[in-house]
Amino acid sequence: MKHTLLPVFVLSAIVLAACGKKEEAPAPAAPAPAAAPAPAPKAVEVLHWWTSGGEAAALGVLKQDLEKQGVSWNDMPVAGGGGEAAMTALRARVTANNPPTAVQMLGFDILDWAKQGALGDLNELAAKEGWDNTVPAALQAFSKHDGKWIAAPVNVHSTNWVWANKAVLDKAGVTELPTNWDDFIKALDKVQKSGAIGLAHGGQPWQEATLFDGVVLATGGVDFYKKALVDKDPAALGSDTMKQAFDRMAQLKKYVDKDFSNRDWNLASAMVIEGKAGFQIMGDWAKGEFLNAKKVPGQDFLCFRVPGTQGMVSFNSDQFAMFKVGDDAKEAQTLLASAIMNPTFQSAFNVVKGSVPARTDVPDTAFDDCGKKGMKDLAEANTAGTLVGSMAHGHAVPASTKNAFYDVITQHFNGKMKSADAVKAMVKAAAE
Ligand code: GAL
Repeated sequence: MKHTLLPVFVLSAIVLAACGKKEEAPAPAAPAPAAAPAPAPKAVEVLHWWTSGGEAAALGVLKQDLEKQGVSWNDMPVAGGGGEAAMTALRARVTANNPPTAVQMLGFDILDWAKQGALGDLNELAAKEGWDNTVPAALQAFSKHDGKWIAAPVNVHSTNWVWANKAVLDKAGVTELPTNWDDFIKALDKVQKSGAIGLAHGGQPWQEATLFDGVVLATGGVDFYKKALVDKDPAALGSDTMKQAFDRMAQLKKYVDKDFSNRDWNLASAMVIEGKAGFQIMGDWAKGEFLNAKKVPGQDFLCFRVPGTQGMVSFNSDQFAMFKVGDDAKEAQTLLASAIMNPTFQSAFNVVKGSVPARTDVPDTAFDDCGKKGMKDLAEANTAGTLVGSMAHGHAVPASTKNAFYDVITQHFNGKMKSADAVKAMVKAAAE
């Protein structure tokens, strides 16, 4: 049998160990066991303008949803209804080459950023979750660019709504909700005579433009609205119908209180909530304020379409545009997009926000009467061809034209321009 010869130092080690003696020579230090790499913390940074009570409550639903999935939320709120200030803040971030993960955005703004190549590609997730089949085409027009999903739509709002305080109306003797312009004016008169303010309004360009959406629809109907505010047809913009719309804006001005200048929209909603004013013309984000104040639709407050716009819907949709991010941030961004598109979440969120879901497969069971009406109106208007993009909220014309329209509308509302001149100025604004 052949003996294996062990090297001398091994033998001596064995002997030493057997004698219970310690080896004198220090053993080479064993490498410390490699620590498992800590999972990269998942986080999203979200830029938005949801800072009112109702808006913040709705946003909280999304934040919590993500936090449950281990994604932390870095909030970047930029106050200012309609989002103009938020869009300015966004430009600064992108210029500094540091875009947020996701940005609340409206219509044409999304497409503008997509054209600049700043947005990511959600197609893989969209295909997996079947977004093509559940998001209405009117919204997809702004969520997709060049065949790529670039944004996740969280809701559909509409701007041609009126919100009213029931007790104020009762006291003023307004027993029926107005369905045409003249009756609306009569109702405003009655409220004013009863001692309350007729129309709660905040004097900011986007709020005046929000009134204008409804007034143009009520005055000229859907085809006129499309010709004037979507197609920028000079004949429609310069028409007598448009002049009449401006005259009606001037009529509304008479029912606004003297402190209206620069008031935030949610403070105008508060005037109706508190019974200081009878009506507010505002998108259905106003309902979020009423609900946040624990008011009950049908009992404390009423919702109805701007008189003369029944059957028509001027919509806008808040979408979260997804910016191009590095690989380290992609997983969290995908989780955010998926959370937004989840049907259960869309119900929970929109119930609080005042809007309706951006998907066609969400049941209306959890919604109050105004929400149910909103969902029904949207579906019917979509079928009837009476669904139009809100000019005031970025769904009719790109931002440059929108802002030029805002200027005219606001100057006129503040008495700095006559209706006949406003009409000419609109034609000019559309051509710039
Ligand atoms: C709209 C937006 C709504 C609401 C509103 C007032 O443009 O779509 O979600 O936030 O501004 O801030």
